[in-house]
Amino acid sequence: MTFTVSVGTDSVDCRPDQPILDAFLRGSVWMPNSCNQGTCGTCKLRVVSGSVDHGPSPKNTLSPAEREQGFALACQATPCSDTVVERLDAAPAGDVHALRDLVGTVSAIEDVARDTRRVLVTLDSPLEFSAGQYVELRVPGTGHGRQYSMANTPGESKQLEFHIRRQPGGLATDGWVFGSMSVGERVDMVGPLGDFRLDPEEAGPMILLGGGTGLAPLKSIARQALTTQPDRAVHLYHGVRGEADLYDVDLLREWERAHSGFRYVPCLSDETWSGRSGYVTDAFVADFDTCRGHSGYLCGPPAMVDAGIKAFKRRRMAPRRIFREKFTPAG
Ligand code: FES
Repeated sequence: MTFTVSVGTDSVDCRPDQPILDAFLRGSVWMPNSCNQGTCGTCKLRVVSGSVDHGPSPKNTLSPAEREQGFALACQATPCSDTVVERLDAAPAGDVHALRDLVGTVSAIEDVARDTRRVLVTLDSPLEFSAGQYVELRVPGTGHGRQYSMANTPGESKQLEFHIRRQPGGLATDGWVFGSMSVGERVDMVGPLGDFRLDPEEAGPMILLGGGTGLAPLKSIARQALTTQPDRAVHLYHGVRGEADLYDVDLLREWERAHSGFRYVPCLSDETWSGRSGYVTDAFVADFDTCRGHSGYLCGPPAMVDAGIKAFKRRRMAPRRIFREKFTPAG
């Protein structure tokens, strides 16, 4: 049994146990989304007619008053009848890549920095996605998923690259990626997800600020931008605690030699060394007097992303040109 869920001129079938967001994205109908866990509020929509079950929607993301007013979280709500909804945001530029279930094989596992692994997964069939998006990996035997951004570009659609940081005691990290995971293992995933992606309509200079494994989607975005515009001004700041946490340094230095507009700035917050020390946001502020005409991309822990947004605005970057992805360690 399915219900019809509609937005604008688009309609999709949705099972009574299926989140509305999942049904729309599988039908290549764009809905704003970021965390897909009910915590960010990005997917909030208005129910125009019909009714939904709010499921596990947290009260601090969707208040009782908002429920009364007809709002719902698309990533949590399931339909109780045929339903018409209204998006609160206009669709961004670019293609909508259909969400789908994916199966792949672990093809490489590499320790690249302190408590940080690069995992390559070769898919059975290629995945269409935009630079910056992520997939959710199913952690074997747990019924849980974990979200990891692709560090490869959309052109490398058959082999996905993930950067994964160990969380002590973490179900997915200590319990799997840093434990039992082996080359040749089959992996189930769903994706692509998320609205953090390279804006296909902007061709101007870019500033990318990443914290820890927040480098992954920025690496994809930077490389994709340089693939289409080899001389584009792309400033990539990577913030970590110590030198042992840095990775892909040689590769990024190679990009600097190959692309006249590319600049890579590693920053250590807890150590002094031959390079930049302090927070990435402070390094950026010190380097730029103004960012008019620039686009900004931020990925990392919430505090870093919030500081980066403030720093971009202080340097006069237009708010509509600021793109962000916050992550919290899920273990
Ligand atoms: Fe974050 Fe739904 S609450 S995408």
